[in-house]
Amino acid sequence: MSQTITHKTTHGPAPESLGPVTSEEAKLLEKLDLTRLPRHVAVIMDGNGRWAQKRHLPRIAGHRSGTQSARTTIETCARLKIEALTLYAFSVENWRRPKTEIDFLMQLLREYLKKEMPLLQKNEIRMRFLGRIDELPAGVQKDVREAMEKTAGNKGMVLCVALNYGGRAEIVDAMNAILADRNGHGAPDKVTEEQLSQHLYTEGLPDPDLLIRTSGEMRVSNFLLWQIAYAEIFVTETLWPDFNRARLLEALVEFQKRERRYGGIREGESSSDENPARAAGH
Ligand code: FPP
Repeated sequence: MSQTITHKTTHGPAPESLGPVTSEEAKLLEKLDLTRLPRHVAVIMDGNGRWAQKRHLPRIAGHRSGTQSARTTIETCARLKIEALTLYAFSVENWRRPKTEIDFLMQLLREYLKKEMPLLQKNEIRMRFLGRIDELPAGVQKDVREAMEKTAGNKGMVLCVALNYGGRAEIVDAMNAILADRNGHGAPDKVTEEQLSQHLYTEGLPDPDLLIRTSGEMRVSNFLLWQIAYAEIFVTETLWPDFNRARLLEALVEFQKRERRYGGIREGESSSDENPARAAGH
């Protein structure tokens, strides 16, 4: 069932930008304050294999179906004018999977970049890739570079695809980049948090304020270790291929219910609170 949203807002994107919505989505949109959306959403897209297994299908069928969820998430976030979306597509640990599955995932990504380019352009999406891109097969590297070049002039959401990505590897790469910058300028002084942030793959982007993980696992799996320091974490039992627009809106509604204190205390709350853990604001 489809209906037009009646939700009114004075700021932020017009909800009409989402087009027709289901009654479930309309109810969620009613609860959502479009002026207080996260600036950067990061997603661990997990559960493709389990989704396929439940249907007695090969794992790759789960990955193929997962691209549809990626498409929906990308388009919805772009239309809600979220600044950045990062999807964890392939980790440095994923090389341990069977070669056939790895080859399929790489092929799927290449197909996706080709097929979805009109949608990316239409939504003014700028693409970035996070990870050790130079270690990827030559064809993938070529497509990745082309996707970045073709979308470089777009002014909308930044879509980051984490590919051959590891959080620890990223911090090591940042440290090495800092050391390389300093070569010939004497011994390095102390490194600051700001400097380190500026040498991460995510340089220039706000840190994710919402991390979504599908399929119920309570782990961060080496994803954006530095950047998620203060992110709200939303774990859903939904398997990634079943993660549709309503599930995404649900995550955004849940995000807005959380109180973000960044280690401070609640407004009006005394720092001499009887409970030291609460007063510390963890
Ligand atoms: C995790 O499921 C999923 C992946 C390792 C790959 C995610 C990739 C896609 C959805 C494909 C395309 C991506 C883009 C950006 C177009 P799993 O295989 O670990 O599932 P399991 O834990 O149930 O085995």
